[in-house]
Amino acid sequence: VSDMLIDSFGRMHTYLRISLTERCNLRCQYCMPAEGVDLAPSSHLLSQDEIIRLANLFVTSGVNKIRLTGGEPTIRKDIEEICSRLSSLDGLKALAVTTNGIALARKLPKLKECGLSSINISLDTLVPAKFEFMTRRKGHNKVLESIYTAIDHGYDPVKVNCVVMRDFNVDEICDFVELTRMKPINVRFIEFMPFDGNVWNVKKLVPYSEMLDIVASHYHGLERIKDHPSDTAKNYRIEGHCGTVSFITSMTEHFCAGCNRLRLLADGNFKVCLFGPSEVSLRDPLRAGAEDMELREIIGAAVKRKKAAHAGMFDIAKTANRPMIQIGG
Ligand code: GTP
Ligand code: 5AD
Ligand code: SF4
Repeated sequence: VSDMLIDSFGRMHTYLRISLTERCNLRCQYCMPAEGVDLAPSSHLLSQDEIIRLANLFVTSGVNKIRLTGGEPTIRKDIEEICSRLSSLDGLKALAVTTNGIALARKLPKLKECGLSSINISLDTLVPAKFEFMTRRKGHNKVLESIYTAIDHGYDPVKVNCVVMRDFNVDEICDFVELTRMKPINVRFIEFMPFDGNVWNVKKLVPYSEMLDIVASHYHGLERIKDHPSDTAKNYRIEGHCGTVSFITSMTEHFCAGCNRLRLLADGNFKVCLFGPSEVSLRDPLRAGAEDMELREIIGAAVKRKKAAHAGMFDIAKTANRPMIQIGG
């Protein structure tokens, strides 16, 4: 393990998020504009071998957790093979996926065999008509099926990511909490974040304090659980509930000081912060025949440029970034 992944604030990066595709089988409003985004030609996207070569570089430098994202990672045809090759990398302790759950249920048995160790599923409403409005597609029942299939396969907890937006799903917060009563589900209420093309507005943001008040006023025995410094979520348990409830407070109480995350995008760009516009291509030097040493230098230099924290929600909203669909969260 070298110091390649330690930034100038002493943060060690042990968690790599790899975006497998820019495509998605949904069209969520908070993630992409209605007209869609320009897709990179497939020759610009990392091949399976390129992903493994880069992932191996990161894992030998100290990364112990990889999360597959997208777009929607399950629509990548070779996701099973990618999973088995990643999970056999020496030093990797966790291989996770963040998925919209549309195509997960049928792929799950194979993915589990290939070493997938944890699953986060996005679901923002329990009302099918609202699901169709937000995602601009059908499929609510498939997402629910995936959540329950993941539980049946022993994933514990299954994390359910719920982006909370004013006038959309604030009234469903307690319905989501009810999911945790009997099942090993960790419901995570997420503050709405600005990305290119998602028409972010502070009026649509429901702050952590408000979400917490709603839950606390309906449930007695709500108790904070100690979290890891690098956790995105503030976690709570409710007396008598099998699952747990969390809040991801990127906007009102960021957790940048404990950040341990890096991102490899589908086009091979390396991104050191979700909100930092600065990116560097790893694909280009890789295809030009770079040795590991040279790639390590490029990665190390980018990590050293990482800022202490994001710029605050109003500045983020004004700065060009990418649409969420290309970053994967
Ligand atoms: P776990 O590894 O299970 O804790 O998941 P995670 O929270 O790291 O990842 P997930 O893909 O489930 O993302 C949940 C929410 O956290 C999404 O809204 C992400 O955009 C957000 N998120 C993930 N990583 C970061 C990060 O580094 N910074 C910020 N600000 N938000 C993040
Ligand atoms: N704000 C907050 N979370 C978002 N996600 C997607 N777009 C946004 C946004 N604008 C969530 C998805 C998914 C995770 C990767 O990020 O719901 O669960
Ligand atoms: Fe890390 Fe950037 Fe997310 Fe802050 S906003 S936690 S620095 S990735």
